[in-house]
Amino acid sequence: MKIIGIETSCDETAASIVEDGTTLLSNVVASSMEIHAKYGGVVPEIAARSHIEAIMPVIDEALVAANTSLSDIDAIAVTKGAGLGGSLLIGVMAARTIAITSNKPLYGVNHVEGHVYANFLTNSPLKGYSFTGSQPTFPMLAIILSGKHTQLVLFKNHFDYEILGIATDDAVGEAFDKVAKMLGLPYPGGPVIGQLALKGNKTAYPLPYANVGTYDFSYSGLKTAVLRLCQSLIGENHTFPSTKLSERLNEAQKADIAASFEYTAIKTIVDKVKKANLQYSPASIVVAGGVAANQELRRQLLNSGLHVNAPDLKLCTDNGAMIATLGYYCHINGVHKADPFSLDIVPNLAM
Ligand code: KG4
Ligand code: ZN
Repeated sequence: MKIIGIETSCDETAASIVEDGTTLLSNVVASSMEIHAKYGGVVPEIAARSHIEAIMPVIDEALVAANTSLSDIDAIAVTKGAGLGGSLLIGVMAARTIAITSNKPLYGVNHVEGHVYANFLTNSPLKGYSFTGSQPTFPMLAIILSGKHTQLVLFKNHFDYEILGIATDDAVGEAFDKVAKMLGLPYPGGPVIGQLALKGNKTAYPLPYANVGTYDFSYSGLKTAVLRLCQSLIGENHTFPSTKLSERLNEAQKADIAASFEYTAIKTIVDKVKKANLQYSPASIVVAGGVAANQELRRQLLNSGLHVNAPDLKLCTDNGAMIATLGYYCHINGVHKADPFSLDIVPNLAM
């Protein structure tokens, strides 16, 4: 059974074909990130316009790369939220049109839930992807770490889950992006902080751990602590503008700040995962979302002795494969079926 997944919630226009919820047949991602980078973050209007240009070529390429055609597709899955309204609209309208003209079932899915399903892919004929080869089993503890979400979720089964904790302010990816900005690094900040941190000393600057609910997360205090640290390192007080910090910090300081921040941000997560593992004894643990690509996260999880499944790096950030995989489970369970004539976007959709 082949499902096409369409994802346009932010700046990536993505489409993918997944077979039987396990086999990645194609994964095409066009990003408008280069245009946004010079503005220091995603500009919604530019993202929406880029999706309009890219959506049909990306869908065509996904079908061709999977050596298939629309007539061989069993169902269409599309991200209906959460995300930027103008961006979501392009994917949803494309999916609705295809569903109507090809008379195939349509599923409107949650982007954040989709990230988790990248872990259900087990193989691919495509080169350059690595998989663990088996699917996670239930109960499954999902660690969801993206630009907008930081959540621990316990799945008892597909579509039957309990949220153990959420971000009470900034999400972890957002904190990476904001610290990168302070250090004069380009958007998105996660990958560049990770690279810079490799050259730094993670114990150089002890930073505070947030003390919020048992499984909740807070990153705004850590972000402010990094700001105050940068200001004090250059001998300025709290009124010194964050946009001018990077000119006054030297390269060694920047690397040590990146490493110390990354270590603390990640340790907060791993400590909570260890606690949840003891309390709930899940049969499997998975990590998902853009920050799941972080190498310090993978190192700390490995050292913790927990067995954690993580998607291939290319399937951590936004992609259509995770949406197609979730779409497969929607299709076989009859969940989230949408009317192609009325499916609407839900920009603030929660899990
Ligand atoms: O899941 P995602 O692609 O989009 C959202 O749904 O938000 O996550 C994007 C976030 C950004 O904040 C980005 O800086 C972060 O993931 N990110 C990383 C890494 N790669 C992407 N953070 C830390 N380390 C990385 N290697
Ligand atoms: Zn995402």
